[in-house]
Amino acid sequence: MSSDNSTGLVELAKRRGFFLQTAGAYGGVSGFYTFGPEGAALKRNIEDSWRDRFAIREGNMEVDAPTVLPEPVFEASGHLDGFDDMLVECPECGESHRADHIVEDRTDIEEAESIPVTEVEELVAEYELVCPTCGAGLAGQAIEDFNLMFETNIGPGSSASGYLRPETAQGIFIEFPQLAEYARNQLPFGVTQIGRAYRNEISPRKSLLRVREFTQAELELFIDPEEDEPALESVADVTAPFYPASDQTADDGEAREMRIQTVVDEGIVGKPWIAYYLGIAKQWYDTIGVDMDRFRFRQHRSGERAHYATDCWDAEAEVDGDWIELGGFAYRSDYDLSKHDAYSDEEFTVFRQYDDPVTVEQPTVDPDMSYLGPAFGDDAGAVAGAIENLAARNPGAFEGENVSVAVDDDSYTVPVEKTGFSVEEVTESGKHVTPHVVEPSLGIDRALYTALDHCYRDDEVDGETRSYLALPQTVAPTTVGVFPLMDRDGMGEYARDLATELREAGLSVTYDDSGAIGRRYRRQDEVGTPFCVTVDYATLGEARADADEAAGPDTVTIRERDSTAQTRVAVEDLAETLTALRDGRATFDDV
Ligand code: GAP
Repeated sequence: MSSDNSTGLVELAKRRGFFLQTAGAYGGVSGFYTFGPEGAALKRNIEDSWRDRFAIREGNMEVDAPTVLPEPVFEASGHLDGFDDMLVECPECGESHRADHIVEDRTDIEEAESIPVTEVEELVAEYELVCPTCGAGLAGQAIEDFNLMFETNIGPGSSASGYLRPETAQGIFIEFPQLAEYARNQLPFGVTQIGRAYRNEISPRKSLLRVREFTQAELELFIDPEEDEPALESVADVTAPFYPASDQTADDGEAREMRIQTVVDEGIVGKPWIAYYLGIAKQWYDTIGVDMDRFRFRQHRSGERAHYATDCWDAEAEVDGDWIELGGFAYRSDYDLSKHDAYSDEEFTVFRQYDDPVTVEQPTVDPDMSYLGPAFGDDAGAVAGAIENLAARNPGAFEGENVSVAVDDDSYTVPVEKTGFSVEEVTESGKHVTPHVVEPSLGIDRALYTALDHCYRDDEVDGETRSYLALPQTVAPTTVGVFPLMDRDGMGEYARDLATELREAGLSVTYDDSGAIGRRYRRQDEVGTPFCVTVDYATLGEARADADEAAGPDTVTIRERDSTAQTRVAVEDLAETLTALRDGRATFDDV
């Protein structure tokens, strides 16, 4: 769908029950959408397909954590301090806007989010940027950091502050000690979650693309960075356009089609695990209807990365002429687990057993307190602690006659013989590892909107223009429309029974007997139903003749949405035929 008719998609979405702005009866609420019957079914199918690809087929676990978490979790995660957007308020109309978006929309500057606030203030003045709502000048207006989290109170009163989670990930990280046990402390292991996330966006926009409540499908993969490697062979030949950070700043830089194996071999994607999941994601987006000619992977520039990421690649799709982020693939290193380890009462490590025990040299100290006490008085205990730390960090410091340690701002010199320093040989059976995290984080709402946008088509059938949604049959809200040619002479009853039979066989079926058959086909085309089955006089004729042993089986027509081609199929084979078509085990040509 082109930029001119994105409003057409929003109108179709409302009219045909995909999605609509929430609480229209109360004037609507910005940034919140309700999925109607078609949208809820499509969303569920996309989520199921994500679960199948990223959780089940990869052998990852799935959890379901609360959406409200207590404040200390977000102190530890860094979201209280660092999860901000740039807010500028119009001095005339009082409307709030994202300053970086105004800069991007009104200048050639891209990714203004990565520019420091003071420089964005200067850009607003330099380009004489104005309020998008009323046109008043914004030069000289202060730009503030606005925290995107929704705050709430847990329990009556205001004793315990909590926040609606801005990402599902934290619900996984904080349960890491138990999850590691479920995984028998074996790295690597992955934990997935599909659920709602909340961000108090300054200016929600572009329908489902930037909202305040949305669904994320996230995988947190815990790895030992020194040991674990992905099985890259399975995606080595997958190709996609890659747009590294260096090419984004070069004059002639552009995205280049490359194999996953190549981007790893050439160090374009530095972390093989990230490349592995980019390969899987590319295949997955294809299966849900995202147009691969309008798809790419773009690396974050250094100023653009979230506070927890050391590297990040986005899956992007072109929608309405803009590239939008469908999902982020971040290397979070040990940031989250180290933080929760430091802020909480539990250990966020795993014990990794060596194949064979190893002997290591371990420095130890046994400070002589009968010397330190008289020498350093009240500071003697702290000096002993500092000696112990130094031995662990830098045993070489104990090679001379004296050793110096610092306590607060004071330096203390201690004869090495009074530290009881020695190096012992100890046998270790393993080591404590703080796993690193590889995180594919996909937005379901954006995937759904993009699939609708990319699958919306117009063509001409029987001299009339028709609109249809070419959604892949695996995610289409409904798989089969069942119609009687007319609701008379037993055709209606036969078709209703057939619809029930197909539902019992596990297919998603809609029954429709209102209006001309052509109009009924158009209605199903518009909501993306891939197959329609029609019961006609021939079906009934054959059903009646069936009493006669020589007559053939009952048959119906199956019509395919995209080609509008039709074929006759025996009713007794219908459920199996349609199931095979839905699951991709057969094509319409095979039928
Ligand atoms: N845990 C990592 C994380 O949350 P993110 O890039 O901030 O990373 C992941 O979000 C995905 O969530 C995005 O790629 C996007 O698809 C979706 N998303 C984020 N903010 C959104 C919003 N305001 N409206 C709709 N989807 C959003």
